[in-house]
Amino acid sequence: MQSIVHQERQKGKKIGFVPTMGALHEGHISLLTRCLDENDFSICSIFVNPKQFNNASDLTNYPRSISADLALLEKADCDLAFCPDYSEVYPHEMPTPIDLGLLGQCLESAYRPGHFEGVAVVVKRLFELTNPHCAYFGLKDFQQFAVVKRLVSLLKMDIEVIGCPTVRTAQGLALSSRNMLLSESEKTSALALYDCLVYARSLVRETSMNKIKQKVVDRFKNSTDPRLEYFEIVDGETLEPVISAEAHSQIVALIAAYLGKVRLIDNLILIP
Ligand code: PAJ
Repeated sequence: MQSIVHQERQKGKKIGFVPTMGALHEGHISLLTRCLDENDFSICSIFVNPKQFNNASDLTNYPRSISADLALLEKADCDLAFCPDYSEVYPHEMPTPIDLGLLGQCLESAYRPGHFEGVAVVVKRLFELTNPHCAYFGLKDFQQFAVVKRLVSLLKMDIEVIGCPTVRTAQGLALSSRNMLLSESEKTSALALYDCLVYARSLVRETSMNKIKQKVVDRFKNSTDPRLEYFEIVDGETLEPVISAEAHSQIVALIAAYLGKVRLIDNLILIP
């Protein structure tokens, strides 16, 4: 893989990269399509990274569908599928930890300790191995996108990190590999996540952030499916909580909730 990329670079080709953990769906393919559009040679990686799972059963149950994934990548005209094993990604047992500051403590990090440290470590390794000019990430994982931008600027890597819009079902459910683990009725219940984000967006110009938060939390008060873990309204750049909408160029609402044992996340940009 490295020698192919090296040759392509020698020829002056622009290298694009889409990292994934497989169980590919249209959300992943939308990143690849954009990557293919904007680069001469596109790599998609599939690697279920144990270091970003803070829960052993979540890792065991993570959906895997490698042959279907490879067929999808072929159909989409991906130039190279990179499916490394653990020892290729982590030849040394102790990768250097990366300090993510507040990003490593707020929102997801508060509920999934060590998760983004694991993401940062694997993305750094995958960037070193694939050596791309551009890398594509979904805004579906809004905090992850912020973490990757931070990583690239901290390590002064010469890689353009590009955020791509969330792909949803017609009813609004954000596509996720974890949706495969939901029953049909859970998928219907999961629509409550997007509904409350749209509800928050409808209130953002006329209601205080605290009130919006309270109204959304109230909606989930007696609900066990979905069971709300958090709903927060934050600044799109710093991810710090927003008190009043003024003085923020971007405001994002983020939600995490359980459907049975499956944990889903979603978000929506409220402003602009
Ligand atoms: P994974 O969950 O497989 O997602 C791979 C990429 O697809 C991520 O950038 C994610 O944000 C994007 N994605 C997922 N669902 C999407 C949707 N509905 N619309 C648009 N994009 C979507 O995120 C990871 O893997 C891992 O943490 C990884 C970055 C590969 C590091 O291990």
